[in-house]
Amino acid sequence: MVFYVPIISLLSSVILLSSCGNACNLLPGSPEGSCLELQATPYITSTSSQFGNFIEGTSVNARGDIFAVNYGNPTPQNQLGQVYPSQGLFYTDEVLSSLLNGIRFLSSSRAYVVDAVNHRVLQLDVNTSENASVVTGSTVFCSDQQMLQPNDLTLSIRAGTVITSGMRWIADTDDTHGDIWVCLPDGRVNRVEVMGRTNGIDLSPDENTLYVSESYNQGGVPNVQKIWKYNINVNEGTISGKTLFADFAQVDGSASVDIDGMKTDSQGNLYVTRHGGSQVVIFSPAGAVIGKIALNFPNPTNLEFGGPTGTSLFIVGKCGDSESKGCVDKIEVANPGRTWSLLQN
Ligand SMILES: *[C@@H]1O[C@H](CO)[C@@H](O)[C@H](O)[C@H]1NC(C)=O
Ligand SMILES: *[C@@H]1O[C@H](CO)[C@@H](O)[C@H](O)[C@H]1NC(C)=O
Repeated sequence: MVFYVPIISLLSSVILLSSCGNACNLLPGSPEGSCLELQATPYITSTSSQFGNFIEGTSVNARGDIFAVNYGNPTPQNQLGQVYPSQGLFYTDEVLSSLLNGIRFLSSSRAYVVDAVNHRVLQLDVNTSENASVVTGSTVFCSDQQMLQPNDLTLSIRAGTVITSGMRWIADTDDTHGDIWVCLPDGRVNRVEVMGRTNGIDLSPDENTLYVSESYNQGGVPNVQKIWKYNINVNEGTISGKTLFADFAQVDGSASVDIDGMKTDSQGNLYVTRHGGSQVVIFSPAGAVIGKIALNFPNPTNLEFGGPTGTSLFIVGKCGDSESKGCVDKIEVANPGRTWSLLQN
């Protein structure tokens, strides 16, 4: 989620060399042509949407069902809904002030949700039966009043460790407006990083690398968009070896287009939403831009891979600047998502 109306910036048309060569190996069957001109198709539009314009936190369960926050209209922010295979209510938090903003599934019976205003991560007990997923109970998994608004989360499927990205949005960002917290299953809760405002967060498929976005703005205008990577020990909840992975000022001159949700696929490629850019940018694990997906709405907030084979990429966001509904685009890709793949075991 981004807490302001962004300035739509024109992306400069820097030509990048693609590691795809002539065939686009990000799509099924490696078709001819560049991966830099991929186009998503509308899946949920403003006429069919049952989600509000703060749709975010796209997540997948083991079956490939897709969920998001801000189900219902007008915009209750304490509700989660199912996006795919059909729209429907998934969970209503009893705390009306809750601003649920990110979801992750650990198994068919457990999920985690961040609440941006109450400085906490909720644990949901889920009953996934033949045709429906139902929440049967919720508890606070971790909480700390010093957490900045936790914006999104990622989850180690192996260790059950939750990692949150926090942000405070004000007109002039400084080095304390973002943070990373780690919540371990044994109850330990630690702040492991303080930085500019953070948003997108995910792990590599081997869960040894953590990717985190960092954005700055001045006078309300975004002017820095970076992605950092760290070594992470998911059992101990420690991070080290901070390294610059991508800087959009250098990638394509788009430092004024905010980074929002990010997800890795099973090969470790990183898919990044650009809020205001109507686009998803795909990086190889080495940090090269290997694909770009054009969307049908301007402000994507998050994305996840689902469907029966984990290869349907769903991208969510506000339908338009003056719209009160949340929209979803879809594109079939070659590799399943990291989370879908790990949840199959
Ligand atoms: C899960 O839901 C199914 C279908 O509604 C029901 O038959 C089953 O008893 C439920 N299981 C649990 C553990 O609640
Ligand atoms: C699940 O959905 C299918 C197709 O609509 C239906 O035939 C089946 O009876 C449903 N199962 C349950 C347990 O409701």
